[in-house]
Amino acid sequence: MIRNIVKYPDPVLQRMAEPVTVFDAELQTLVEDMFDSMYAAKGIGLAAPQIGVSRQVTVIDLSFGKEPEDKLVLVNPEITLREGRQYEDEGCLSLPDIREKVSRSARVHVRAQDAAGNWFERDGEELLARAFQHEIDHLHGILFFSRVSALKRDLLLRRIRKLQKAGEW
Ligand code: NI
Repeated sequence: MIRNIVKYPDPVLQRMAEPVTVFDAELQTLVEDMFDSMYAAKGIGLAAPQIGVSRQVTVIDLSFGKEPEDKLVLVNPEITLREGRQYEDEGCLSLPDIREKVSRSARVHVRAQDAAGNWFERDGEELLARAFQHEIDHLHGILFFSRVSALKRDLLLRRIRKLQKAGEW
């Protein structure tokens, strides 16, 4: 089921999500809904808080649903290793039409549980590393504009306020 994606400044996007302790049918449904909602919005990653659910769950698929092996479910994820630097444009389904260059680690190692509760580890580089960092930030209540300079952030927030006033947000 496609769920509505919440936008900044919804408070659910700005608080720490709850760890998942029960791996049941409800969690499976949440994960399926997250994939449906992400594909419908043409995103490559979605975190549970973005559909209003404050839990440590994120899904990623860099192939937009074309390659089944690219579908990733990360429950209670943590980054255990970071290397290098990359500086690329980033966007977010909760900040529509806003793009900005964000500095991120070039390579990361992630430890997470799957939807059945099994722990696994995964390396990511380039875009996948960026997706891991962006989505795990969401689970910590951090939006990407917190990762840019204060000057750029002020400009972005001003643009958002203008769009809100015009009823276009
Ligand atoms: Ni995002």
